[in-house]
Amino acid sequence: MPYLAPSILSADLTCLADQIRIVEEQGADFIHIDVMDGHFVPNLTFGPVIVEAVKRITKLPLDVHLMVKNPMQFLDWFAAAGAHYITVHQEACLHLDRAMNHIKNLGCKAGVSLNPATPVQSILHLLESVDLVLIMSVNPGFGGQSFIPYTLTKIRELHEYRQSRKTNFLIEVDGGINEETAESALKAGADVLVAGNSIFNSHSIADSCAELKSIIVKNGGKV
Ligand code: DX5
Ligand code: ZN
Repeated sequence: MPYLAPSILSADLTCLADQIRIVEEQGADFIHIDVMDGHFVPNLTFGPVIVEAVKRITKLPLDVHLMVKNPMQFLDWFAAAGAHYITVHQEACLHLDRAMNHIKNLGCKAGVSLNPATPVQSILHLLESVDLVLIMSVNPGFGGQSFIPYTLTKIRELHEYRQSRKTNFLIEVDGGINEETAESALKAGADVLVAGNSIFNSHSIADSCAELKSIIVKNGGKV
C-alpha cells in the first residue's frame, strides 16, 4: 500500500510542469504542496493559486500541507483550488475537530499533522475519524533538513494504534526522506513518504524518484 508524495517545495518552479511530469512517469502517487505563512513557520511559499495551477498539469491527487496559523480561514480556498487531502497542524489549530469536519464537508480528505515534539496522544480522540496523520520528521519550514530519528517512535505508535483499533487513516512522514531513511520509516509503519530535496535537488529527478519508488514497491507499494 505505501505511496510516494514528491514535495514541490524543492522543485524548479521555472519548469514545474516538466518536473511534475517526470515524477509522474516514475510512479509518484501524490503531489505534496507545502503552504507556509511566515507565522506558523519562518518561511513563505504557496497559496491556492499554485494549487489551482498544479491541478491543471497533473491528474495525481494533490496533498496540501498547511503550515499556517489559523488554518480554518483558508480551508474553503484550498478545497476550491482542487486539493484532495488538506492537512492542518495540531499546533496551529484551536478547533481541530471542527477543522476536520469542515475539510470533509468540503469534499476533501482530512489530515492532521504533528511537529516532531508534539505527542501522538494529543490527537488520540481524532484517530477514529481522520483520513491521514502527517508526522513531521523535521521541524517544519524548510526542505533539505535531516530526519529526526525519534519521530519513528510516533509512526510506530500510530501503526500499533491502527492495528489494534482497525481504523484506516494513512500515516504520512514528511522531512528528510531519502534512500536511507525511507526504509526505516516504512518499517515503522508509514504509508506515505514525502520527499522534496532528495528528489528535486538530486543529480537526476527521474533516477532518485524511481529509486524511492522501488523501495516503496519492495515494501508493498503498487508500481
Ligand atoms: C517541510 C515541508 C516538507 C518538505 C520536505 O516543512 O513540510 O514537505 O518539502 O522536504 P525534504 O524532503 O527536503 O526534507
Ligand atoms: Zn510538507
